[in-house]
Amino acid sequence: MSIIYGRRVRLRGAERSDLETFVEWVNDPEVTVGLTLFLPMSSVDEEKWFDNAMQRPQEEKPLVIDRKVGEDWRVIGNSGFFDFDWVARSAEVGIMIGDKTVWNQGYGTDVMTLLLRHGFETLNLNRIYLRVYAENKRAIRTYEKVGFVHEGRMRQAVYKHGSYSDVLYMSVLREEWNANNRRDDGLSRAP
Ligand SMILES: CC(C)(COP(=O)(O)OP(=O)(O)OC[C@H]1O[C@@H](n2cnc3c(N)ncnc32)[C@H](O)[C@@H]1OP(=O)(O)O)[C@@H](O)C(=O)NCCC(=O)NCCS
Repeated sequence: MSIIYGRRVRLRGAERSDLETFVEWVNDPEVTVGLTLFLPMSSVDEEKWFDNAMQRPQEEKPLVIDRKVGEDWRVIGNSGFFDFDWVARSAEVGIMIGDKTVWNQGYGTDVMTLLLRHGFETLNLNRIYLRVYAENKRAIRTYEKVGFVHEGRMRQAVYKHGSYSDVLYMSVLREEWNANNRRDDGLSRAP
């Protein structure tokens, strides 16, 4: 598998040299408020996470998000697929744009569109799902925009920052992806 290119973003394999940036993001309360990560993470924890991640099957390895700045690419986040069920052809997807300065500029929407295309057209999945905290309105809006459908709500399923949160399940089926004809998304296949 090679780098997955969109018009403004690309998805590439993670390098050890990315870890310094990742550790900053996963310790930033504004970034982690919507994530399952909530305890402080050291660079040693991050190294361990990376070493484990590199042992996973290729399709489960992290996909680092770069955005195009002039002729260069700059890292803004991390994403990936996990919990594959190859009989049901289903997997969970996750995304973190750690660079807060680029939130609300459409990058999350572009990345999720690329991830869906990758999941359906390269990994040949039939169902791509995710879990999101009910308070994470920006994330929910992003997922709705690219075609995720609300599936259900796990009430008070997590406890964070002194209160319980509901967790929403959302998914896209291959038939919905095909019907929405995401090939017209303006995302090129070459750099
Ligand atoms: C969630 C995340 C991936 C979204 O990426 P992004 O690049 O900021 O999102 P986009 O700009 O593509 O789209 C955001 C949409 O949410 C809307 N939005 C922002 N804040 C909102 C709010 N409080 N309520 C409702 N909608 C909101 C924006 O207006 C935009 O919708 P629009 O295009 O219709 O105007 C990114 O912010 C992120 O990674 N955050 C930190 C980690 C995280 O929460 N990850 C998700 C875990 S499930």
